[in-house]
Amino acid sequence: MRRLQPEDLLLVLGARPRAEVGAWLRDGLRDAVAAGRLEAGATLPSSRSAAAGLGVARGTVAAAVDELVGEGVLESRPRSGVVVADLDRRPRGTAPGPARPGAAAERPASVGAPDPALFPRAAWARAVRDAMRELPDAELGYPDPQGLLGLREALAAHLRTARAAPVEAEDVVVVSGVAQGLALLGEVLAGGLGGRRVVVEDPASPGVVGQLRGAGLEVVPVPVDGRGLRTDALPDAAAAVVTPAHQFPLGVVLAPDRRRELVAWARDGGRLLLEDDYDAELRYDRQPVGALRGLDPDHVALLGSVSKLLSPALRLGWVVAPAGVREALVDTKRRADLGCSVPEQAAFARLIADGAYARHLRRARLEYRRRRGVLLDAIARAAPHLPVEGVAAGLHLVVRLPDGDGEARAVSALRAAGIPAEPLSSTSAHPATWGVVVGAARVQGAPVPRVVEILRSAAEGAAGRV
Ligand SMILES: Cc1ncc(COP(=O)(O)O)c(C=O)c1O
Repeated sequence: MRRLQPEDLLLVLGARPRAEVGAWLRDGLRDAVAAGRLEAGATLPSSRSAAAGLGVARGTVAAAVDELVGEGVLESRPRSGVVVADLDRRPRGTAPGPARPGAAAERPASVGAPDPALFPRAAWARAVRDAMRELPDAELGYPDPQGLLGLREALAAHLRTARAAPVEAEDVVVVSGVAQGLALLGEVLAGGLGGRRVVVEDPASPGVVGQLRGAGLEVVPVPVDGRGLRTDALPDAAAAVVTPAHQFPLGVVLAPDRRRELVAWARDGGRLLLEDDYDAELRYDRQPVGALRGLDPDHVALLGSVSKLLSPALRLGWVVAPAGVREALVDTKRRADLGCSVPEQAAFARLIADGAYARHLRRARLEYRRRRGVLLDAIARAAPHLPVEGVAAGLHLVVRLPDGDGEARAVSALRAAGIPAEPLSSTSAHPATWGVVVGAARVQGAPVPRVVEILRSAAEGAAGRV
């Protein structure tokens, strides 16, 4: 197979910028491989000659190559060096032909799911291999229902920086996603630690509401406006489930005075706040607002998972639990399923510890920010009056529509075009909440104008009939 020269790389990378040389090299190589401008199987020049030819430090080349090997874009082969991977051999899309019943392609993708093509397969595979090599035999019995200590330590360190919250390994309970965390905490509350009434935001994720009802709780919707949950409308209840960093689905951030009021409501009444931090690490215009838990660790349980950041297929999440509910939560987890898969937990701990998780998050953030920007630019050009809601964050966006007809048409046309979509009305207890929640993370390239056209015609068609 062909051995590439530094000049071949220069040809696909274009001129070297003055700053951010590492990103230029890494992103340029990734794009060139994805677009087929560097042929699969071709061998890269050595890092020494690439560095000399491109005029960059050797460490910069090594770091970019390392990252791309981790992503599966390049492959490191023992005797041949680093070669361009054959991305077509990666099972990334839908197999041709009719889907088998029950196959993933038959189930509609969630509006809040990340793009599976960005999953760092090679880095994950390496983390699993390394974790299994290091895992002592003693860890291959029934797990600690609170979670593998190594993962709890790695998560605590990550969350302290990423979410500006006080977190120690002993506070963390590993669960199989935010959904399970809510269900278990719901059981704890219903079992006597508080009571059965729980506030939810209106609108909210129907899945979340279902988890709470399933745990035997009575759900009390409280409206959300442009500054987040209406804290002036909080009723008496044992707890509240909130999405303060990025409200689901409306995408607003809870205003600072309301954050304080909410925490005071919890503290004064001995209540529990369940902070659903589902996508807080995906903020594109600034650092995410710190977790509510930072204001009062005794009254806030912080729930997160890898579902938006890596993949919901892993079913791996965490509850950073206040001391008052931790023991009951771990007991409930033990009764539910005896604990989460140890190899999976060990692999995730490895991914965090070796920096691959942070690299993936950086890359995912950049990519989703770019896609969101392209979609919003296209909307601004073709449909400038379309009411798109929410801050620059997350994997979905919401467009308000004036009536239920437009909502139904937009949802079915988007789904027919392969774009995840949900009616906004399905997220609200209020009868006239019309709109569409769009899985924006999946919208890129050719479908962009189609999505804009569907949204524009739903908004205008509906307006025309009013
Ligand atoms: C707002 C919100 N919270 C929680 C969840 C559940 O997440 P997990 O996959 O971690 O159970 C979802 C899933 O889509 C969600 O949208």
